[in-house]
Amino acid sequence: MSKTHPYPIARIGLVGGGQLGRMLVKAAKRLGCTTVVLDPVEGSPAGQIATRQIVGGYHDADRIRELAADCDVLTFELENIDADTLAELEAGGFPVHPSARVLKTIQDKLVQKQFLREHGIPTSDFEAVEQPQPAQFQAFGYPLVQKARRGGYDGRGVAVMRQADDFDSHLPVPSLIERFVEADKEIAVLVARNTRGEVASYPPVEMCMRPGENVLDLLLAPADIDPAIRAEAEAIAIRTVEALDGVGIFGIEMFVDHQGQVLVNEIAPRTHNSGHHTIEANITDQFEQHLRAILGLPLGATDTLSPAAMLNLLGAPGETGRPVLRGLEETLAIPGVCLHLYGKATTSPFRKMGHITILDHDTASARAKAMQVRDTIEIGAEEAS
Ligand SMILES: Nc1ncnc2c1ncn2[C@@H]1O[C@H](COP(=O)(O)OP(=O)(O)OP(=O)(O)O)[C@@H](O)[C@H]1O
Ligand SMILES: [Mg+2]
Repeated sequence: MSKTHPYPIARIGLVGGGQLGRMLVKAAKRLGCTTVVLDPVEGSPAGQIATRQIVGGYHDADRIRELAADCDVLTFELENIDADTLAELEAGGFPVHPSARVLKTIQDKLVQKQFLREHGIPTSDFEAVEQPQPAQFQAFGYPLVQKARRGGYDGRGVAVMRQADDFDSHLPVPSLIERFVEADKEIAVLVARNTRGEVASYPPVEMCMRPGENVLDLLLAPADIDPAIRAEAEAIAIRTVEALDGVGIFGIEMFVDHQGQVLVNEIAPRTHNSGHHTIEANITDQFEQHLRAILGLPLGATDTLSPAAMLNLLGAPGETGRPVLRGLEETLAIPGVCLHLYGKATTSPFRKMGHITILDHDTASARAKAMQVRDTIEIGAEEAS
């Protein structure tokens, strides 16, 4: 006899109501699940479309317990949340995926790097920094990258230092320093692992970073890398998630250096910006895959249906306020353009307001259209009246 499931299949509790959460809520609806979102901002991108939003902070233990009380399983869309309360819920038998232990390993970038090193997963050399001192940086050697142990995202909390003079721009916090990698490419591999230990990985994608800001600018899928590197990247990504004993979807960011060596940059224990194209370009998108993984359901096929390029729509520099879209019609007139807007009530410079995936017969033409889109669409702010 095959197993019977209730309907809705599960009530998902989600810590974090941003764009990743919003896309997860959409997938949850499609998959016959209900959702409750915890976010401090009323009407958050995910909260707008969830069954219910609890208004509260990511570190508010009482609100996290309230969330659990109303759900069957807890998950999250960002790392900077109260892991102790998640651990306490787990200890009481409540399912949290990925686990509080996995989250704690990743929350602290130093612990994360130590984890990689201990498990023999290739990553750049590093050392811990308690209080930044020029002598330690000098002895480690430039160029280097300093990273805050906690709280960084979208390149905040990362300082690239080419030479000793750059020490002036150091981050005055507990951190790590690591070897600067002369990367040929930055790639990412999404790996899902379900509660039964089954894994599925997605074809590597190429991430092009915005120079000077370390924030994802353009993504190409699949990555233009040779098959041996592709196989190596997928194997390393799967090994990483298995070593973590992680459940859910994980974005493994990697460098491919000039020698074709693959090094893990960092692990995201959640859906990832580099997987947005999977909504249109792969059989199972990363959001549905995450839900399948945490609910112990069979994982979906990850095959690529179409080459794609993906652009984040960032708030225009120098403009803050109620968003307005410029160039929308010209953009939508380009064949293969798929628009996603996140429902954020205000825009500010470089804020992630939405994204566009472009499907085309090859990544080169998808990329060319992405460049055209970038020059066409803009999210600015209404003139103050
Ligand atoms: N060791 C390194 N060598 C060269 N470049 C690096 C190194 N570490 C980080 N970078 C650059 O800085 C970017 C941001 O670093 P990282 O991914 O560690 O930080 P983050 O703030 O967590 O990023 P995000 O939230 O955008 O994923 C990387 O994508 C890469 O472009
Ligand atoms: Mg990163």
